[in-house]
Amino acid sequence: MTALLRFKQSIAKQLSKQTECSAHELLTFMRATKSRKDGHISISLPKLNTSLATPVAAEQLDACRQDTNWECQFVPDEYIQQASQKGSSLYFKFDEANFVKHVLQQVYQDKEAYGWSHIAKAKDKTVLIDYSSPNIAKPFHAGHLRSTIIGSFTKRIHEALGYHVIGINYLGDWGKQYGLLAVGFEKYGDQAKLRSDPIHHLYQVYVKINAEAKLDNEIDKQANDYFKKMEQGDPDALKQWKQFRDLSIQSYAAIYKRLNVHFDVYSGESQVNPYIAQAHALLSSSRLLERTEDGALAVDLEKYNLGTAVVQRADGTSLYITRDLASILMRREKYPFQKAIYVVGSEQAGYFKQLFQISNLMTHTNQDLQHVGFGRIKGMSTRKGTAVFLQDILDTAKDKIVQYMKQSEEKSQLSDMDTVADQLAMSAILIQDMKSKRSKDYEFSWDRMTDARGDTGVFLQYAHARACGIERKSGITIDPHCDFSILKEKEAVQLAQSIAQFPDIVESAFATLEPCTIVNYLFKLSHATSAASATLRVKGTDPDVAKARMLLFWSARATLRNGLHLLGIKPIEHM
Ligand code: ARG
Repeated sequence: MTALLRFKQSIAKQLSKQTECSAHELLTFMRATKSRKDGHISISLPKLNTSLATPVAAEQLDACRQDTNWECQFVPDEYIQQASQKGSSLYFKFDEANFVKHVLQQVYQDKEAYGWSHIAKAKDKTVLIDYSSPNIAKPFHAGHLRSTIIGSFTKRIHEALGYHVIGINYLGDWGKQYGLLAVGFEKYGDQAKLRSDPIHHLYQVYVKINAEAKLDNEIDKQANDYFKKMEQGDPDALKQWKQFRDLSIQSYAAIYKRLNVHFDVYSGESQVNPYIAQAHALLSSSRLLERTEDGALAVDLEKYNLGTAVVQRADGTSLYITRDLASILMRREKYPFQKAIYVVGSEQAGYFKQLFQISNLMTHTNQDLQHVGFGRIKGMSTRKGTAVFLQDILDTAKDKIVQYMKQSEEKSQLSDMDTVADQLAMSAILIQDMKSKRSKDYEFSWDRMTDARGDTGVFLQYAHARACGIERKSGITIDPHCDFSILKEKEAVQLAQSIAQFPDIVESAFATLEPCTIVNYLFKLSHATSAASATLRVKGTDPDVAKARMLLFWSARATLRNGLHLLGIKPIEHM
């Protein structure tokens, strides 16, 4: 149980005996107050009254508000010092020293697991997360960047809660365009360039040959023939394609590493071929296939208000959806899962509804398949030109940070400035992406994202490094047994209150898979930390005071670190 819940429950226990509300209901009515003057928790009286079995008339309600003298009915205990009524709300005051003690001792006990240790571990549950999933030879666009970031968060929060998580990068690595790419490579390819920078080089080749194919039918035919050879398993055709794929994966991996993102499996559209026939057989035996006028095969989903979905072209070839259906069959066999999550832009929402519906119909199951969507990033560009490559974005962010660090008054004395600048830049990109609700579009802004004073990733990293600095300078060893009544200043109690909210924040972020819940909480926590560190000195104060304050700051930092961990950000200790 969390510290906060323990205190709330002691209120609920007494109140449930005096109202018609259950303790559980009462817990949902409780709000944290803005100022602790009246108390720490409030409950609106009309809430209590309207939840009575027979609703009371308005005038009775008023009378009831005035009559109620909750203060004398409430017996103070070790958790709650006082209950009172003001206007139409009840206020409850915590025994602050006891509250601070419970919060800080819990952080101390849980350490790296503070925030989720109270949630029952999901034992033996496998979750697949399909994220990032770029298309080889095409630019890694903003949508892939968001999928990478939000997918990594989704993976981490599931891992924290004890799920067995398999992160899958489902590459766009199959289809006619690879025939075209191969034809293009014969004409314009350069092995040395391919090796040194496969992503850019393949893109250049692809753009050239694509333009040419539009003018020259012969190229198109060659591409088709080449792809046919690939589909038939021609070793030479496949060897070339595999080299493109392997080198691309290698350079993606370097970028993912900078972003602190990991995949358990690099799969992709090319890997599902053996399961396409199986998907076809299941669709057919479930009587889902209908021949369209032009000879394609489709599944009618009108009954579900989802239109129709073509699953085989007239020439017998498969489509994006066919491959995804096959990949579900493959995943069911290879990694039996309880839940599968696809982190892909909201523009594919309709597509995923169709995919999930067909998959359930064809397997006669009701699998837990979820699409986690997100809005667009607008205005993302680099100085280098029109097509946006992820690496350029990351490098530009880093340049900005280096500039900033050079201008900064507290000139950094760091020997590893380069590493720190890169980490700061990644934090800036990640936080900008996760600070609003997923479904929202946002405007990409270099300046807003790297501002150390605004609500940015740079700000959070500074807050963390500063907290580490307090610890280093104090030379105090963290000790969970201290005199908690020392921590009575407004700033101290508010910081403890903020720390105490973290477990609820994690629960809510998990339920909605909204990383912004955590990001916005971390901003508040960091502001509370800096308010406290501005007034509460550690170094050079009375040893008992220093010890208690140090535990408070240490707990705040541990909470910040745990939050950053869920977001996929490595906290910086020195800046
Ligand atoms: N490669 C696709 C794209 O760029 C995203 C793939 C998402 N995952 C999936 N299983 N469909 O749009």
